[in-house]
Amino acid sequence: MTTERRKKRLHFDQDGGIKGLQQWRVPFSPELLRNLDWDSVKSYLNPPITNEKPGEPWLVVRPLSIDDYGKGYVQILSQLTTVGNVSKGDFKSQFWKMQRAGGYYVTVIEDTRSKKIIGAASLITEFKIIHNCALRARLEDVVVNNTYRGKQLGKLIVLTVSLLAKKLGCYKMSLDCKDNLILFYKSIGYKLEPGNANSMIIRYEETAKPQDPS
Ligand SMILES: CC(C)(COP(=O)(O)OP(=O)(O)OC[C@H]1O[C@@H](n2cnc3c(N)ncnc32)[C@H](O)[C@@H]1OP(=O)(O)O)[C@@H](O)C(=O)NCCC(=O)NCCS
Repeated sequence: MTTERRKKRLHFDQDGGIKGLQQWRVPFSPELLRNLDWDSVKSYLNPPITNEKPGEPWLVVRPLSIDDYGKGYVQILSQLTTVGNVSKGDFKSQFWKMQRAGGYYVTVIEDTRSKKIIGAASLITEFKIIHNCALRARLEDVVVNNTYRGKQLGKLIVLTVSLLAKKLGCYKMSLDCKDNLILFYKSIGYKLEPGNANSMIIRYEETAKPQDPS
């Protein structure tokens, strides 16, 4: 079936999810995580691990699932920043919005022994008109549970989404981080480009209710 015909067959359900994707209960196809180009980054990892062979039989790297609220995805984000009071309903509603919008490749590491999410990173893609209608990537919301740190899982989850960006055809991927994490990102290939490494910000103290662009 062509992409156009497939799009026409998609229907929104009562929850706001897209039926054609909802069967996966994930924001993107797990198939996309197969056969990433780990050869190109093998020098960054010792011992070598990949998303398909993460070094322990009880570790799984996969797309975020609608069921991950119960597996502690929201709690783990609180080790990164303020999360707020996010209910299961809030999480689900935001999850379907991401799925509907497309371009959200939220990826997690699960410890299948405890059925808990122990690591996460998000690749967000952006359609551009510049550079011949290119695709650009941003890295967001990187975290590893504090009891699992120092075992290369941070490198594993960031490299997984970085290689996914490459596979999707993105021409670049960028991130914002605190000064003390520059070495971490440098150790897996990210660079501060001379003359092009400023991160600027404006914060809105009083915000309106977030709008759903769809
Ligand atoms: C950053 C983070 C994801 C790294 O996870 P991790 O599983 O410990 O990382 P790894 O084991 O893959 O470590 C890779 C390397 O980075 C270094 N590193 C990890 N965290 C670091 C930190 N906070 N500061 C400085 N170096 C760090 C490690 O020492 C290691 O170095 P080595 O390869 O020379 O031994 C984790 O510390 C974390 O979740 N921090 C809190 C959330 C956060 O700050 N996220 C990043 C937002 S941009």
